[in-house]
Amino acid sequence: MLRKSIMGGNWKMNKSLQEATEFTKKLISELGTYRDVETVIFPPFPYLKMISSLLGETDVALGAQNMFWEEKGAYTGEVSPLMLMDVGCRYVILGHSERRQYFGETDEGINKKIKAALKFQLTPLVCVGEKLEERKKGLAKEIVKSQLTKCFTGINSSEVPQIVIAYEPVWAIGTGETATPKQAQDMHQFIREILQEIFDKKTANLVRVQYGGSVKPDNIKELMQEPDIDGALVGGASLDVDSFIKIVKYGEF
Ligand code: 13P
Repeated sequence: MLRKSIMGGNWKMNKSLQEATEFTKKLISELGTYRDVETVIFPPFPYLKMISSLLGETDVALGAQNMFWEEKGAYTGEVSPLMLMDVGCRYVILGHSERRQYFGETDEGINKKIKAALKFQLTPLVCVGEKLEERKKGLAKEIVKSQLTKCFTGINSSEVPQIVIAYEPVWAIGTGETATPKQAQDMHQFIREILQEIFDKKTANLVRVQYGGSVKPDNIKELMQEPDIDGALVGGASLDVDSFIKIVKYGEF
C-alpha cells in the first residue's frame, strides 16, 4: 500500500476529564491493537498527559490541536513542540480553520510551526480549505494553492512525506454539509498536483491527504473509496466513541 490511511479525532474544546478518560478506555479496548488504519486522537491540552498514560504502547496515537513554534521562553499561554513530545504526543494539528478564523493564524505562522514540528519529529497535520464565499466565486482551488504554497515554503522535499494534509472546506465543518466524494476527490487530486509542482511526483504521491468536514459513520465509506482520500479528520462525530470507531473501521461494520 502506497499510503496508509490515517483517521484523526479532533475533539476541539470538548469533554470533561472523566468523559475523556471513559472515551479513551473504550477506544483502547476496541482499537488498541488495530493496525489497518493509523488512529490518532487530539484531546484538549490539559488531558494530554493523562491520556498518554492510558494509551501507553497501544496502536492509538496522541496529538495536540495546536502549538507554538518556539522551544521555550516568554510566550504566555503557549505550548511548545518539546512540551508536546514530553507528554507523549506524536502528531499536531496546524492551521485549523478555527485557529485561522478566531485566533488570527496566518500561513506564514503555520509555516514556522510546520518547520518546528518537523524539527522535533512531530507529524504535522496541516489544514487547508476554502470558505463558502470563495467556493461560490470559483476561487476554491486558488485559495488552497496559495495556502499550500505559503505553508510549504522552505520545506525540504525529503521532509514532506512526514506531513499529513487535511483538506477541510470551511463550509463543511460542523454544518452537516459534507463535500461530495467527487468534490473532495477533485480537490485532493489538485492538492497532489500542487505538491508535484512545488516538489516532485514521487513526493506528491507519498503525502497523505485527509478530508475533514461533517464526516460521519454513514459517509466515510464512500469518501474512502476515492483514490486520493487517505483518511479523515473528524470533529463532531469523533466525540462519540462508537461513532469514531465506526469511522476508523470504515470498511468493517
Ligand atoms: P466536523 O467533523 O464537526 O465537521 O469538524 C471537522 C473538523 O474541523 C475536524 O478538524
